[in-house]
Amino acid sequence: MKPLAKHSFIILLYLTLSSTMTMAQHKTISQKVDSLLNLMTLEEKVGQMNQYNGFWDVTGPVPEEGNAAIKYEHLKKGWVGSMLNVTGVENVRKLQKLVVEESRLGIPLIFGFDVIHGYKTVAPIPLAEAASWDMEAIENSARIAADEASAVGINWTFAPMVDISRDPRWGRVMEGAGEDTYLGAQIAQARVKGFQGDNLSAENTIVACAKHFAAYGFAEAGKDYNTADIGTSTLYNAVLPPFQAAVDANVRTVMNGFNVLNGVPVTGSAFLQRDILKEKWGFDGFVISDWASIGELVPHGFAKDLKQAAELGANAGSDMDMESSAYVLHLVNNVKEGKVSEEKIDDAVRRILTVKYELGLFDDPYKYCNEKREKERLYHEDHQAGVLDMAKKSIVLLKNEGNLLPIKKNQSKIAVIGELANDNNSPLGSWRLGSDNHTAISVLDGLKKYSNNITYAKGPKVFNPDASFLNHVQVNETDTSGMEEAIAVAKQSDVVVLVLGEHGFQSGEGRSRAQLGLPGLQLNLLKEVYKVNKNVVLILMNGRPLTIEWEAENIPAILETWQLGSQTGNAIAQVVFGEYNPSGKLPMTFPRSVGQIPIYYNHNSTGRPNAQPNVFWSHYSDEKNDPLFPFGHGLSYTTFAYSNLTIDSNNPEYVSVEVTVTNTGDRTGEEVVQLYIHDKVASVVRPVKELKGFKKISLAPKSSQKVQFTLTNKELGFFNNAYEFVVEPGEFGIMVGTSSQTGLHGNFIKN
Ligand code: GLC
Repeated sequence: MKPLAKHSFIILLYLTLSSTMTMAQHKTISQKVDSLLNLMTLEEKVGQMNQYNGFWDVTGPVPEEGNAAIKYEHLKKGWVGSMLNVTGVENVRKLQKLVVEESRLGIPLIFGFDVIHGYKTVAPIPLAEAASWDMEAIENSARIAADEASAVGINWTFAPMVDISRDPRWGRVMEGAGEDTYLGAQIAQARVKGFQGDNLSAENTIVACAKHFAAYGFAEAGKDYNTADIGTSTLYNAVLPPFQAAVDANVRTVMNGFNVLNGVPVTGSAFLQRDILKEKWGFDGFVISDWASIGELVPHGFAKDLKQAAELGANAGSDMDMESSAYVLHLVNNVKEGKVSEEKIDDAVRRILTVKYELGLFDDPYKYCNEKREKERLYHEDHQAGVLDMAKKSIVLLKNEGNLLPIKKNQSKIAVIGELANDNNSPLGSWRLGSDNHTAISVLDGLKKYSNNITYAKGPKVFNPDASFLNHVQVNETDTSGMEEAIAVAKQSDVVVLVLGEHGFQSGEGRSRAQLGLPGLQLNLLKEVYKVNKNVVLILMNGRPLTIEWEAENIPAILETWQLGSQTGNAIAQVVFGEYNPSGKLPMTFPRSVGQIPIYYNHNSTGRPNAQPNVFWSHYSDEKNDPLFPFGHGLSYTTFAYSNLTIDSNNPEYVSVEVTVTNTGDRTGEEVVQLYIHDKVASVVRPVKELKGFKKISLAPKSSQKVQFTLTNKELGFFNNAYEFVVEPGEFGIMVGTSSQTGLHGNFIKN
């Protein structure tokens, strides 16, 4: 039968089936899914569980041999449920048409892409966004990303990454929300809402994906893809809550990961994917594997071959196989041999089809193929404004001795120094696959809009200019040419703005670092400049916390600017010249040295927390215990005072906490007021401090505001080692302040 005739017969049959319902009865998505499932062969069901990477430039000839030809044939047979890394209305339409018109049932594809922090218009890296503590701005940033991604045919992003991590050696800390579970959970929800909106079938919203489930951020030694071995309490109280928050925000997909967790690869873990995610939390979307992570069960030593990997992955609840071909090659036989039940296949396919229905793809498979939107939405000026707002709020003022910042616009001579100052590519970060190189506003270009008295010197070369997503960045350690010129420029200027840090491709996937200092000769450059001019503003551009102890002790002003995306230079200039008063707070601890890692604020007390006259207490003989800059730290161009902390625990339902914050300086500023608790005695030891509330407020000079918090059992409780959420009576410490280290203290008794 000709494909088209066969196809229209199937559709006619399907419509007949579905129209048996009384017209008044609206078929629910679940009923539509079941009707369709009943028509599907086992091969077609398994096909929905198969995702391929883009393999064919559809404007070119049809692939006739090799892997590409096989993928092309599988598309036509309906043995592919999704594609990743296919973008552009023309490409998406061609592949969608191939499947919808050639395959027997014409089930539309869902198209996925790593829209991590923007598509064409690039937002700050997620760790930078987390430093804003501004949920509205973060949600808007995700909304902008969804608007642009959906305009090029993408309807599914592999974001937000919600992995908690306490180890800046791990390259992917740039992709998450830092070390704290409470902040990470709030941000997870903001990003899911931004991507998915409140109507997934709208043409400018896309399916989100909470990843990597779970504990990928605890890779031993910060080495990517490495084993994670963590205790039950850390898993239940630190790692899982942001994922549960994403599920509570109705995230429609979850991605598992590459790592082993406590001996079991998470991709093959029924405990995580079935017991916790699908059973206990009631997640009704679908789980996508990470790239070939099902096939990687073999090198993990968990499966003896690809066939067993398919069996273990499917039984563990990995619903879709990204690019390992394990499912499309072996799952049908595993079912026929009784190694995987067809019920499990049906459950996975039901989940996948449900999300496709929610997207509206069955109503219109080409709804994301709108040439007009593709022309109008990319790099839109509204998006530039949105990411600029996000970027300036992400900047953290780490130090400002003598109020060197902000620089007065009429400052006579400004030296701008450093290769990164004139770099319009690196600030896009490493996860900017959809954007175009060299489309960021450089720091130098941003600063020049405020002063026509800037002299630039590159200083010694730092990175190879052709660094890319696939290979390591080469760092210059020997060639000092450019140093003399930089020193001369610094000597003849009133103030020096030095832009130093990492290349955008020095953090991200596959980019762990064992040393966390400024790469190459940058510290040498800083020290030489500082010898001739003490008025140095250090602008850090990096994807992770760095060990910058000398810098922090000697340089008067330091701005942490991360990688801020398309509007980098404009955002930094607004802060440097005082048009915007910095308000960011660190979402991750800055260690003094790598030897302290993992170092994080919400640590346990230990049995010997206090200094002793002898060596027998928890400390180093050659390093301090405290960090260089603590979680939650961030200064302003004004100052804030905290007073009148009151705690009312008389109501059995909740505890009320109130504090007065006063702007004691001479300009308006924003402050992130942070609330921490300490459950002092519990059946499972609790951290010495846990963030359980924050409010970002704006205060005019000399004005005050009472800030209230309410602590319910949700904030006071924790998961015990049986994964039961418990609230235990006893004494709780409270701290409300400007960082995890500084604030007013109080306590109360929870009965
Ligand atoms: C990568 C990453 C994952 C990403 C996927 C698709 O290896 O681990 O976060 O979404 O593959 O690119």
